[in-house]
Amino acid sequence: MTEEIVKSALSKVIYPGFTKDIVTFGFVKDIVINGDDVSFTVDITSSAPEVAAQIVEEAEKELQLAGAKKVTVNIKAPVMPRESSSRGKNIAPQIKNFLMVSSGKGGVGKSTTSVNIAIALAQQGKKVGLLDADIYGPNIPRMLGIADVKPEVNGNKVLPIKAYGIEVMSMGSLMEEGQSLIWRGAMIMKAIEQFLRDILWSELDVLVIDMPPGTGDAQLTLAQSVPVTAGLTVTTPQGVSLDDSRRSLDMFKKLNIPIAGIIENMSGFIAPDTGVEYDIFGKGTSEPMAKEFDTKVIAEIPIEPAIRTGGDEGKPITFIAPTSESAKRYMKAAESIWETIEEINANGGVDNEAVQPTTPPGVSACSTGGASSAPQSSGGGCGCS
Ligand SMILES: Nc1ncnc2c1ncn2[C@@H]1O[C@H](COP(=O)(O)OP(=O)(O)OP(=O)(O)O)[C@@H](O)[C@H]1O
Ligand SMILES: [Mg+2]
Repeated sequence: MTEEIVKSALSKVIYPGFTKDIVTFGFVKDIVINGDDVSFTVDITSSAPEVAAQIVEEAEKELQLAGAKKVTVNIKAPVMPRESSSRGKNIAPQIKNFLMVSSGKGGVGKSTTSVNIAIALAQQGKKVGLLDADIYGPNIPRMLGIADVKPEVNGNKVLPIKAYGIEVMSMGSLMEEGQSLIWRGAMIMKAIEQFLRDILWSELDVLVIDMPPGTGDAQLTLAQSVPVTAGLTVTTPQGVSLDDSRRSLDMFKKLNIPIAGIIENMSGFIAPDTGVEYDIFGKGTSEPMAKEFDTKVIAEIPIEPAIRTGGDEGKPITFIAPTSESAKRYMKAAESIWETIEEINANGGVDNEAVQPTTPPGVSACSTGGASSAPQSSGGGCGCS
């Protein structure tokens, strides 16, 4: 046995889920050869036991084919993340917490809020991902200045894009610019599931999820696929927006999702020249609604031109102008959200068992794990059309 033979044999072992082998990845270390006996270490990035098992099995096979007698494989893997206190179905178990950002109405600033809260949490030392679950109208890539960046695809998995200290994925990063999507409900469900299962998210403290407006298939699928730790509602101060926001808060209640608070966006206007704050759409009007749902308004974010230009130019205000009034308010809101998340976990976490689809016997549900291997035809007949 020589080191060359060992390396050549191990270069036939493909890292599970990828197209490259463990030698090319640089995972093989400390090769010790003693006659025909070989021992070595494989330093892998995944804590999933099935990944380690597959590598050991294939490495032993390849080395024995190459003439080795005794093969000792030491697997060095990151420690399994602390078991979350949450229960029920979770198709992305390496992510500790999920924050669903919702609104009853479109255009109130969900995406802007998601971006700035995600960056604020990262600046507070959390490992953060941002999932743009707005399948029809993905805006996150532009808001983070990564509209032209295509993600790296490895085997049947996709690596999230990195920007401003967070991991990001969006339908906008996976399709050509301007391509419009007209998707049926069943395909939206499939897309949300794939965003959670087939994106190689790191072991994140929190995944912030920017939802499409309203309370539909995407929201339900998300709640059924992972235990959503907390929900955040974004509203503007006008009465009509508040009416819609009530529906968003009501949805959280129905889905058993604890509410982390309300962000009142476009609340007043800060003039860029004088810094004076004006009341435009009303201010503080969300307060009674917060009381009604036993939650609080965690930030009033003014209309500030730098927020809009930051979004259009891919320069989020929380990162670019951390001393601005709005950035400070996003930072405070992020602190409050994290406190709530810790409190929820300390009290036993969340459970999404009660919101799982109920299907008649013999009919497979669209959004249960088993369905992912079978090609989806339409929602009809599977209990969740
Ligand atoms: N506080 C603010 N000050 C100035 N502009 C803002 C503010 N909040 C959001 N905007 C701007 O308003 C527009 C709509 O915001 P955004 O895209 O975040 O809303 P949304 O709720 O995600 O919309 P949709 O429902 O279409 O997904 C964007 O151009 C954004 O830059
Ligand atoms: Mg949006």
